[in-house]
Amino acid sequence: MRVITLFVFPFAAALASAVPFKGCQHKVKESIHGPPRGWYKHAPAPKHYMLELKIALPQPRFPELEQHLWEISDPSHPRYGAHLSKQETQALMAPHPETLDVVREWLASHGLVEENLIRSSANDWVTIRVPVGLAEEMLDTTYHVYKHAESGDSTVRTTSYSLPEILHDHVDLIQPTTMFARFKAFKSTLHWTNQVQPAGLSPSGGTITGPAGNQVDASCNNTITVSCLKQLYNAVDYNTSATNCNKLGLTGYLEQYANNMDLQQFYQSENPSAYGSNYTFISVNGGMNNQSYVVAGIEANLDTQFGFGLTWPTPGTFYSTSGKPPFDPDTTTSADSNEPYSYWLEYVLSHDTIPQTISTSYGDDEQTVPYTYATRVCAGMAALGARGVSLIFSSGDGGVGDGDGDPATQMCYSNDGRNVTKFLPDFPASCPHVTSVGGTINIPETAVSFSGGGFSNYFARPPYQEAAVSAYLAMLPPGTYEGLYNSTGRAYPDVAAQARDFLVFFQGKAASAAGTSCSAPTFAAFVSMLNDARINAGKTPLGFLNPLLYSSGYQALNDITKGNNPGCGTQGFNATVGWDPVTGYGTPNFEKLKDLVLAMP
Ligand SMILES: *[C@@H]1O[C@H](CO)[C@@H](O)[C@H](O)[C@H]1NC(C)=O
Ligand SMILES: *[C@@H]1O[C@H](CO)[C@@H](O)[C@H](O)[C@H]1NC(C)=O
Ligand SMILES: *[C@@H]1O[C@H](CO)[C@@H](O)[C@H](O)[C@H]1NC(C)=O
Ligand SMILES: *[C@@H]1O[C@H](CO)[C@@H](O)[C@H](O)[C@H]1NC(C)=O
Ligand SMILES: *[C@@H]1O[C@H](CO)[C@@H](O)[C@H](O)[C@H]1NC(C)=O
Ligand SMILES: *[C@@H]1O[C@H](CO)[C@@H](O)[C@H](O)[C@H]1NC(C)=O
Ligand SMILES: *[C@@H]1O[C@H](CO)[C@@H](O)[C@H](O)[C@H]1NC(C)=O
Repeated sequence: MRVITLFVFPFAAALASAVPFKGCQHKVKESIHGPPRGWYKHAPAPKHYMLELKIALPQPRFPELEQHLWEISDPSHPRYGAHLSKQETQALMAPHPETLDVVREWLASHGLVEENLIRSSANDWVTIRVPVGLAEEMLDTTYHVYKHAESGDSTVRTTSYSLPEILHDHVDLIQPTTMFARFKAFKSTLHWTNQVQPAGLSPSGGTITGPAGNQVDASCNNTITVSCLKQLYNAVDYNTSATNCNKLGLTGYLEQYANNMDLQQFYQSENPSAYGSNYTFISVNGGMNNQSYVVAGIEANLDTQFGFGLTWPTPGTFYSTSGKPPFDPDTTTSADSNEPYSYWLEYVLSHDTIPQTISTSYGDDEQTVPYTYATRVCAGMAALGARGVSLIFSSGDGGVGDGDGDPATQMCYSNDGRNVTKFLPDFPASCPHVTSVGGTINIPETAVSFSGGGFSNYFARPPYQEAAVSAYLAMLPPGTYEGLYNSTGRAYPDVAAQARDFLVFFQGKAASAAGTSCSAPTFAAFVSMLNDARINAGKTPLGFLNPLLYSSGYQALNDITKGNNPGCGTQGFNATVGWDPVTGYGTPNFEKLKDLVLAMP
């Protein structure tokens, strides 16, 4: 393993010892043209209302961290699998000591001393709790209460904030300020159903040929169960271990509670051997675990039932992270925080051991997440990859649009002030350091029309997908969708899995769920089984998957070549032979993937 090289810091001696912030000119640090579509300014924010401000300090060694990530995730590199420890990763995320000094002095000049500061374990984030009045003074801005017309949500935000000029190189971003993201859970369309037959009860049907060429229950063409997914993706004979330290993690946000009674009922019907088993619940930043039936979350139920149901007896972890509007003017405790990814990342990165595979089925329009914030969150995901974690995200449910309205007639606009028509990519699916999962339906599998896919406007195309994406773009008729998508951006999804007709239990009844919310925990479950096989063979876990998937892993996936993902009034992209921005490289063939990953170092 290579020694982590010494980094020469770019801005040494920029400062004199005492920093006269009071006399410093404030300069705009970030501003947005106006609130995103759907939000309007309601009233000035109450001065006493408490904000929890998160300050991101620059990570000057991030390029080095990213270089490690590429090397240790590339099966052809000698350092493949040499994942970094918590300490090594933190050293590569740490700000320059001078940054810590300058920011400390600035905060002290506003009466905030060390005991008022919450620091992340790598010291790259500082969190403060301050009343709106003080935040306005520190950031030379004015906060307002904004309302979201459609949902009625309120939030306390501003459209611009400033910092003393001397701080600009020492702060990456401060939020909540300009971030309006609604952070919606991907649609888990819920159909109440009397006609869904729990698998065990359905005697009928015969078999049909599945994607791996084997015979699968014909009922899998209508209702997706744990048994169906094991058949379709060729893992019927594989048993995972309960004791080899392999774990599967699932994340819950937006007060989505995974109901244990529903989970047990699901196990009883769909995987009786798992009945009575439990998982570890972890609360992040005060995330709750309300077991009342009436607040059961369909998303959290779907994730736990299929994620843990497929991988049992692999130990499971469910993270419940708080952090949701609305703003409530009657409380002085702040409930109105950021998108919660930064809290979750801070939490997991501060621990010595982390589940090897983690699935998330939440996301937002990339353009509603400020560029600086998206970049920092994506950097945190790179750090998790460097630690050896496979991060799986659903690709979104709006095709090339955002899922609002009829995809055939929907209008999609940029919110950068230009108000031009363009496709609307999804974040974090667009982060190049995660594996994003699109959706399929039926047997033979075709792309589902809502499968989120396209090209990031924030992140450049990473080297691992250069060949695959150029090949796809070269096949498009010249001029296709010109101006609607960014052909140099990170393209997604990377892979796919079934996304409709999932049999879940919700509030005591069988129901049917759809969305790439179904695809992410499904794909993650098969990755977790691959990690199980690697660990049993004395090998490292797979960590960040994409360099593997794009170099050889695709040969062990079922290529999806039919279907498209309409949106923004267009037909979207087409699934094709090879990689495409609808289903990526396709769906898993577990036995093939297992042979491949066991043959690797
Ligand atoms: C997996 O477990 C089942 C039930 O215990 C057993 O019948 C089967 O033989 C096992 N499969 C393998 C490949 O060990
Ligand atoms: C399972 O774990 C959850 C969270 O740790 C806990 O609330 C619940 O009571 C447990 N259920 C059983 C059946 O042990
Ligand atoms: C759980 O949710 C129910 C229904 O909304 C509510 O009545 C109860 O107070 C909640 N429990 C806790 C501990 O918050
Ligand atoms: C953007 O342009 C469309 C079509 O011209 C218009 O309907 C919409 O109101 C505009 N939005 C903004 C925020 O200007
Ligand atoms: C599965 O269902 C689809 C949609 O109804 C149908 O087109 C297809 O032929 C079915 N597959 C098989 C193998 O019967
Ligand atoms: C296109 O993507 C690149 C990153 O590859 C980015 O720098 C550029 O700003 C994007 N262009 C637009 C119009 O969003
Ligand atoms: C998708 O395929 C259809 C039918 O072959 C073709 O007309 C259309 O141009 C293709 N669209 C794209 C974006 O490739």
